[in-house]
Amino acid sequence: MTQHTLAPAATRWWRDAVIYQVYVRSFADASGDGVGDLPGVRSRLPYLAELGVDALWITPFYVSPMADFGYDVADYRDVDPLFGTLDDARGLVADAHAHGLRVIVDVVPNHTSDRHPWFQAALAAAPGSPERARYVFRDGRGPDGAQPPNDWESVFGGPAWTRVPDGQWYLHLFAPEQPDLDWDNPEVHAEFADILRFWLDLGVDGFRIDVAHGMVKAPGLPDVGHANQVEMLGTAVLPYFDQDGVHEIHREWRALLDSYDGERVGVAEAWAPTPERLARYTRPDELHQAFNFHYLSAPWDASEMRQVIDESLRTAQAVAAPATWVLSNHDVKRHVTRYGGGEPGLRRARAAALLTLALPGSAYVYQGEELGLPEVLDLPEEFLQDPQRGRGADAGRDGCRVPLPWAGDEPPFGFGTGQSWLPLPPAWRALSVAAQERDPGSTLHLYREALRVRREHPALGDGPLRWLVGPPGTLMFAREQGGRTLACAVNMGEKSVRVAAYGSEVLASGPVQRDGDCLELPSDTAVWWEVL
Ligand code: NOJ
Repeated sequence: MTQHTLAPAATRWWRDAVIYQVYVRSFADASGDGVGDLPGVRSRLPYLAELGVDALWITPFYVSPMADFGYDVADYRDVDPLFGTLDDARGLVADAHAHGLRVIVDVVPNHTSDRHPWFQAALAAAPGSPERARYVFRDGRGPDGAQPPNDWESVFGGPAWTRVPDGQWYLHLFAPEQPDLDWDNPEVHAEFADILRFWLDLGVDGFRIDVAHGMVKAPGLPDVGHANQVEMLGTAVLPYFDQDGVHEIHREWRALLDSYDGERVGVAEAWAPTPERLARYTRPDELHQAFNFHYLSAPWDASEMRQVIDESLRTAQAVAAPATWVLSNHDVKRHVTRYGGGEPGLRRARAAALLTLALPGSAYVYQGEELGLPEVLDLPEEFLQDPQRGRGADAGRDGCRVPLPWAGDEPPFGFGTGQSWLPLPPAWRALSVAAQERDPGSTLHLYREALRVRREHPALGDGPLRWLVGPPGTLMFAREQGGRTLACAVNMGEKSVRVAAYGSEVLASGPVQRDGDCLELPSDTAVWWEVL
């Protein structure tokens, strides 16, 4: 096996890191209760090191009633028994480091669980009390206060306010079990600084900041004036998202991160209306990275994709931050399915992997995308659990959270021993890690090879990109650095194209034919070649 060591911090590892998202619940179940856990993640570290990623982002594993699967935290300084113990977390961080993998953990600062001691105290206290002042409690509208304080809607659908027995209302931008904190309150700042220090002292390399665009609300909590606000998320300015004041919190956190050695990072989960607004989260004194949801949302279309890539690069460069690239996560339909599903969807997803990993900056891989997993669209009704399900237009996020198939002939394919919390489709037998290890043409081998080339090639990762002129429907660019040039072409059109490709192929997502100095590139296929 390859020897791995942590890249020295001085290299600003985060500028071109490939970060693998572990959705703990669905990664590997060591305890046999059907739910993934930290010992499960720990046992699979050799797999992740072998895959060739640089870091893991581990989704919340803190004490939680699991109303939103851990994004409702009741104790930020301990591990939920479902996922293990604090010692398991310590062991996982230490083992990951020994495998050359950095560890980013989630922090959820916009809201707590309704079972958090602070919220329980707020419910027990009177209106106007210091306990209520940690959250957003308001009187209702109308003669008897029976109408919510404003027209804000929860991201999960329905009003963003819930009434408590004494008549006041509290704000929750997500589920009622996720009351929003009031970040105008200095006590909230102090508490979160302490929580960050707790995990930094334990050895984590950074944080993915949940709802990093939501902690500050417009003064006076003004009405939006529109219904169906969920459709405006990430495209319009809303009084509860992407408010300027939120950047003060990120500055505070950057100073805290910088007070630790080893380049600890902050990554914003921010839905901003434009790439310009998104880049503000990564100004030099703010966070290191922000997820590029504009890239994730782009359709499989060369000109739209190119526009998003150009805007992402331009806006990131303007603030001297690395661009980031993400295709899937635990909140969206898996990209094999978004790109059309079935064989065409997989072909495009494989091509998208080569595109993503050739772009300048840092890339995210959501667990299972390296296996080409599709969204599971036909989960039996009785298993569905996502709080988003059935509210608004969305079918829910269970289908992208189905556990990983590791090996064997029967579900749960080595994920654990018992019935998994969501069932794995029998057809995933052919997609398991073990099955794909045996097949040199598998998506797993494609990812391993692409990550190996990316690690070894001086022109990949951080650095410049130069567009090349390609046939219509094809993206073509060169990455030049360290005296070497790697070129990438992605045919997003319906027909095969011929591209000038002087040099030798390094990797392709499907069959390509060389003809002299040209390559015949089939539809939905990407290729990397070394320009000689
Ligand atoms: C974003 C997380 O990724 C998602 O899973 C969660 O439901 C919301 N934030 C609320 O915390």
